[in-house]
This record gives sequence, structure tokens and C-alpha cells, in this order.
Amino acid sequence: MNTIGVFDSGFGGLTVLRALLAQAPSARYVYLGDTARLPYGSKSHETIARYAVSSAKFLAAQGAELLVIACNTATALALDDIRSALPIPVVGVIQPGAEAALHAGSGVPASQQVLVLATAATTQSGAYTRALHALGLRATEKACPLLVPLVEEGWIDSPTHSAVTLEVLRIYLLEALAQAPDASTLLLGCTHYPLLKPHFEATLRNLHHPMCIIDSAAATASTVAALMPTATQPASATPDCEFYATDSIEKFQRLGSAFLGRPLPAVQLIDLGG
Ligand code: DGL
Repeated sequence: MNTIGVFDSGFGGLTVLRALLAQAPSARYVYLGDTARLPYGSKSHETIARYAVSSAKFLAAQGAELLVIACNTATALALDDIRSALPIPVVGVIQPGAEAALHAGSGVPASQQVLVLATAATTQSGAYTRALHALGLRATEKACPLLVPLVEEGWIDSPTHSAVTLEVLRIYLLEALAQAPDASTLLLGCTHYPLLKPHFEATLRNLHHPMCIIDSAAATASTVAALMPTATQPASATPDCEFYATDSIEKFQRLGSAFLGRPLPAVQLIDLGG
């Protein structure tokens, strides 16, 4: 199991790849950002499943022996379809994310209210609520459809852009906390959202509502690392990664490094159709 395929609709899955590189550094990685068809999160179940299965098949054709769906939306709507379509192990981000929420709690699970922020498709699927309830946790899900475009446009750094993003976050959090006033854990149920973690922290401070903020990247990487054979070779200083995108490779390379935490090598453009 040396080659791991990782995909998302865009840059978000690079936050998961970053965690994978930290926990399973000697594997070869092939990453696909399906940027031409982004966002997945506002599309129908059928369309998301079709896009996700074709992305997964592309990575299998590149030699992936294990697939990581580094997208909550594709995991929520297409995990079973992808598992049926591919003869390789498939790991999604929702179960590891729910387990990370359980481990973040300090009291009895039934008293822990988890607020999940995610795309519209993920929240409508109820996948997080089912996974959290199965672990004995209480859950409230809130769709935040404006966050993925803000992140994909890079509206996270400059003070002017950040001010807009912070205001959008404030409105979403106020609406969410009105539904779940006793929430103590904030689960970032979209792989784009870890890039907004400082913005979430600042907004929660201003709202005087401290919460433990978690995402599924590290927990997903641990699940994958446990499936890997014990490393026989030391990890090289330069990770073995290939990157593909279905649109705007210049933008992918420019913005992707913020998600990955290191410069991206060349990104190859591919066409997966509509
Ligand atoms: N990063 C994806 C997720 O985790 C969402 C992006 C999109 O809507 O395409 O759900």
C-alpha cells in the first residue's frame, strides 16, 4: 500500500494531505482537486456521487492502492458508491471527525453538544448527526455555503478580505448558537474550514462563547497510518506527491501552498468531463 490517492473538490483536501504527510510520510501520494466542478456542496446527491466516483476512478487509474476522500461532502454523499466502484480500501473523513469530537469532550458523551459546520449537502445528508449519535454525542448541524468560496478565493489573509470573512462567520455562528446554545465542541465538517481556524477562534472570543475546535484531518491521517505496513524506509526530505486539478492550475499552485503548508510542485491539468 505505497500509493495513496487523495481527492477533494478543490484545495480543502490539502489540509488532510498535510496531516497524512506528517503521519505517513514515506507513502507516495497522488492528489486531485476537482476544481472545475467545485463546489460539490451545493449540488444534488446524484451529481456529487457522479463527480466523486469519477475523481476516485481517476486516482485508482494513477495507481492508488488506498483512497482517502478528503472531502466531507463526497464522504457524506458518495462513500458507498465509491466503495462499490473501486476494489481498494477507501477512507472517508466523517467517521474520524466524529471520533475526534468524542475524544475532545471531557465529560460524559451524552452531555456533549457538538456543533457541526459544513456544506449544505453534508448537513442535508445527516451523516454527521448519525455518526455522532452512534457515539452517544448530541449534534446540531449548520450549513455555511459562503465559506468555501471565501476560502477558494483566498479571502483569509488581508485585513480587508478577512473583515468580510469574519462578519460572515459571526452571522453563521450566531445563527448556529441560537439553535445549540450549550454547544461545547465546534466540529469543522468541511476540509476547507481549517484554513479559517484563526477566524473561528477570534469570532468565538468576541461572542464570549469558547469552544473546542476540531477537524477531521489528523484523525483521518491516523486511520490511514494504521492501515499502512510498518515503514521500512525512512521518509525522504521531499515528499513524493503528484498533483492534478481539473481547472486553473496556476491558481491551484498559488493558493494551494497555504493549505499544504509548503510550496506545491507542478500541478497537471486533467479533464474529467462534466
Ligand atoms: N471540502 C469540501 C468538504 O469537505 C467541500 C467543498 C465543496 O463544496 O466543494 O465538504
